[in-house]
Amino acid sequence: MAHFSDDLIEEVRSANNIVDVIGSYVSLKKKGNSYFGLCPFHNEKTGSFSVSDRKQMYYCFGCGAGGNVFTFLMEYESFNFTEAMEFLAERAGIKLPEHDMTPSDRLKNDKKERILELNKKAATYYYTLLRSPKGATGLRYFKEKRELDDETMRKFGLGYADVHSNSLYQYLKSQGADDELLKESGLCGIDEKKGGYDRFWNRVMFPIMDIRDHVIGFGGRVMGDGEPKYLNSPETIVFDKSHNLYGLNLAKHSKRPYLLLCEGYMDVISLHKAGFDCAVASLGTAFTDGHANLMKRYVKDVYITYDSDGAGVKAALRAIPILRNAGLNAKVINMKPYKDPDEFIKALSAEDYEERIRDAENGFLFEVRKCYERYDMSDPAKRTEFQNEIANMLTIFTDELERENYLTEVSRKYEIDENILRRKVNEIANKNAGKPVTEPLKDGRMISNKKEDGRLVSQRYLITALVEHPELYPQIKDIIVPTDFTEELYYKVAMMVYDGLEKGDLMPAKIISAFQSEEDHGKVASLFETTIGYLNTEEELKRALIDTLLKVKQNSIENSKSNPGDIDINKAVLKMKEDQEILVKIKNLNIKLNDNGGN
Ligand code: GTP
Ligand code: MN
Repeated sequence: MAHFSDDLIEEVRSANNIVDVIGSYVSLKKKGNSYFGLCPFHNEKTGSFSVSDRKQMYYCFGCGAGGNVFTFLMEYESFNFTEAMEFLAERAGIKLPEHDMTPSDRLKNDKKERILELNKKAATYYYTLLRSPKGATGLRYFKEKRELDDETMRKFGLGYADVHSNSLYQYLKSQGADDELLKESGLCGIDEKKGGYDRFWNRVMFPIMDIRDHVIGFGGRVMGDGEPKYLNSPETIVFDKSHNLYGLNLAKHSKRPYLLLCEGYMDVISLHKAGFDCAVASLGTAFTDGHANLMKRYVKDVYITYDSDGAGVKAALRAIPILRNAGLNAKVINMKPYKDPDEFIKALSAEDYEERIRDAENGFLFEVRKCYERYDMSDPAKRTEFQNEIANMLTIFTDELERENYLTEVSRKYEIDENILRRKVNEIANKNAGKPVTEPLKDGRMISNKKEDGRLVSQRYLITALVEHPELYPQIKDIIVPTDFTEELYYKVAMMVYDGLEKGDLMPAKIISAFQSEEDHGKVASLFETTIGYLNTEEELKRALIDTLLKVKQNSIENSKSNPGDIDINKAVLKMKEDQEILVKIKNLNIKLNDNGGN
């Protein structure tokens, strides 16, 4: 994290109202004292994502994502903290002083820029070489073997690495690059005895671009047979394979309202050439949540157009749930009898492919069909196994209408009695009730029935209560102290909450900023948004508070016992007496609340 001063961080944070910032990505509706919308971090239909104007934080009651405006941008835009600061400072017209970067951050930024610069030079080098006499083999390969035209080759910046094993190295050295950086860029290796050498040689080259058109890495293909068929750049500080997609820099400008997800670079290129300018591919690695979240910035629908062989089907079965969890609608394109989109388009035509897009199969129905193919339906035992598996699969749909639609469709298609299947699905869903299920509270907030350590819930709820009812503070500050919070993180937050309440400047979002990792941001946010049940009347709320104070104190007493320290009988007796008195005091507490309540 860059070292901006706490004051500057707070200035930038408070100049950007979180409701406006998140509102520009997620559609929010005011409900009670908070704003609600569909969580951008998990797939849902209920709207358990809350944004609080007063606390200047967000929290999802469904998946637990939470934090302040910085956390949101770090999670949603994949920004690091410095980028989030820069973005928000610019948005609010605040100028960030250069010297506020730590030396190590400045060094890292500088290194990233220099590696991107090297990559650009390398891409230009390969590009030029392909079009020079030395590149004749490469050019022939692309034009004759792959049937590419100049325009397509230019769009993708295709190039050629020649037969010498160090010509790029020599070139970049002549441009003043140093060995250390060349090594770190993944373009070259340095041998103690033989000196520098290239990673790629005698291959046609595919530069890999990020969404801002930076060259972040390369793929290189052999021109005939040979191993490995594709060689890719290693991951570097600028090349993160699980958060980038090949072709997305072009596909993001497509007018088509969906993305086509392919396996290979050549598939992407062929599809673009045929007019399907929304094709992308992962980078020689499996499809990840990071890829799905990246896609979600641009589209709602993703058509999987993987190879038609067993490996392709397997990869599709892995990608479908990832897409679904990200809230994307997955469909599967059937390429048969051809191997992949590249071969399909060459053998048939763009019109035929367009038709395949229209006929694409719903992702869930694809999963069911592949499951069906694994069972021998003539055997009643196997048939039952299949039907049970289907019932299980149907429980992923928490929206009743959606589940019904799939249920009727599947029971019709696979001749399963609809009513029996429905009963089975409900039975399994009830059995799975340990999983988080959320129900709306009166004020629109959600309460989770997730089973959890009650002692921690009490500590969290107490912090939430102090934030939402600051008038509680003077009434309890001598009874419950920060050290009563037994979890390290809770204790730290309690210290800051007490401090803020003491000074009268408590701001949850500011407390979140004091923690470094996004994971901690989520945990801290949950401390400010914990609910414990349906507390509709003031009496219920007061009773719940007394109960909570007792639980927190009792737990703290238990905790200090299990941690004996010095054993002095007199002190121990005295402490026991004090503890008892405090517990009695809590029981008799006459809590007074202002009626402003809520958040
Ligand atoms: P061609 O049409 O034969 O050029 O390949 P393709 O585009 O059909 O690719 P294929 O389905 O063989 O592979 C899909 C993707 O997996 C490629 O684009 C590469 O990113 C990656 N890949 C393929 N072969 C290799 C390999 O040998 N090593 C590595 N690391 N990745 C590979
Ligand atoms: Mn291919």
